Amino acid sequence: MLNASLTVDPAFVVGEVDPRLYGSFVEHLGRCVYTGIYEPGHAAADKDGFRQDVAALVRELGVPIVRYPGGNFVSGYRWEDGIGPASSRPTRLDLAWRSLETNQVGVDEFMTWARTVGVEPIMAVNLGTRGIDAARSLVEYCNVPGGTYWSDLRGGSPYRIKTWCLGNEMDGPWQIGHKTAREYARLALETAKAMRQVDPAIELVACGSSNRAMPTFGSWEATVLGEAYDAVDYVSMHAYYQQHGDDRASFLAVATDMDGFIDDLIATADHVRAVGRHRKRINIAFDEWNVWYQSRFPGETNLEIEQTPRLIEDVYSVTDAVVVGNLLISLLRHADRVRIGCLAQLVNVIAPIMTEPGGRVWKQASFHPFALTARHGQGTVLQVAVSSPTVSTALYGDVPVLDAVAVSSGAGVVVFAVNRSLDTPLRLEVDLRAFPACTSASHTALADDDPDAVNTVAEPERVVPRSLSATVDDGRLQAELPALSWNMIRLS
Ligand code: AHR
Repeated sequence: MLNASLTVDPAFVVGEVDPRLYGSFVEHLGRCVYTGIYEPGHAAADKDGFRQDVAALVRELGVPIVRYPGGNFVSGYRWEDGIGPASSRPTRLDLAWRSLETNQVGVDEFMTWARTVGVEPIMAVNLGTRGIDAARSLVEYCNVPGGTYWSDLRGGSPYRIKTWCLGNEMDGPWQIGHKTAREYARLALETAKAMRQVDPAIELVACGSSNRAMPTFGSWEATVLGEAYDAVDYVSMHAYYQQHGDDRASFLAVATDMDGFIDDLIATADHVRAVGRHRKRINIAFDEWNVWYQSRFPGETNLEIEQTPRLIEDVYSVTDAVVVGNLLISLLRHADRVRIGCLAQLVNVIAPIMTEPGGRVWKQASFHPFALTARHGQGTVLQVAVSSPTVSTALYGDVPVLDAVAVSSGAGVVVFAVNRSLDTPLRLEVDLRAFPACTSASHTALADDDPDAVNTVAEPERVVPRSLSATVDDGRLQAELPALSWNMIRLS
């Protein structure tokens, strides 16, 4: 048994959780849209073709915002192909994923789905093959009440989409229309100006780096913000993690990498703020993050052209789910600056929700820590003072076995914690003397004797959270965190 302790105090405030931290992402990629959220003819489909069994799990997951329509897809997308009578829409070759795009779902259908499910969209515009004109027309189509060409084509009430992404991963050589930082900075600024001219109420996300290992990370953001600081509100971050070989210890520590990535970006944005004598702060939209076994992906140029292919349908284990829970702890720890987060993606494609065409829907293991954090991790994030043994990792050196964060609200305090030990339980003591009203605790854990256990269509409830006992006595919480586990301890 290992021992660790932490102190929770209402004075150690990080910031308020923006509920949009718990967003997700729907891309026209593989089976995320077609046979994912949308499958006309399915027994659970509504009159518009959207699967209500999937919609119910999206609601249970607790995502308030969903980014759309890409991803790499958006960099070759003509949004006008997806409006008007469905039978006259063109089938296009999507180069990002070498797939046939039938355009049966476009912006209007997506907005219908978003309203049914109860989520707000984050809309991305194409700054790969297109630019200012297509972007400002899309804002006009979505947000202008009427009396103009595009708004009258839409008809009905405006969608009033608030948050818009200025392209996707424009720093990446794989991106259609990839740009240098300077090229992108100029285009982002001019596009932002035109979009705001159409609707001054929108907020804008500039592309940051596609991942921390990009050779331009840091200088990209400095150049883009140097040009467009006053025109944008957020800079984006993307990060995907996987276990390499049998190095599970490093994989369990990837949240330390996410912490460093966020800290580096904040430093860069604040440097540009100081140099430019700007007043506002640029916040972060971490609008793609997850576990993704990219080493298993053959690369888009090796794909056969197909319609609705099964692409990157990773199956998540208990270990992957613990890492997802730990990445949420990292995001919460930075809640003062990371205001938007998007688990990438929502259905079938590296997703917490899986479907079979014509068949059932089920939750991946990673669904559980996400849904529980989204539901209970609302309020004020508190920095916790941790005392923990360390574990050696090949990639990140010595890291604490215990990683934790606390969120307080009127109802009490919730501690989210992971035990990164592969094989040893951790006895946790929490000093709660600053919360004298907290006298009882409930402990929920995700762990398993088999850390490779997964949920499948045949066994959809193989991995579920379970309740453990925890006690509060004289201002001290005692709990035992199983080896390799994600934990939520609610104190009231
Ligand atoms: O989420 C899958 C892909 O990952 C997205 O299309 C792209 O933005 C990122 O590289």
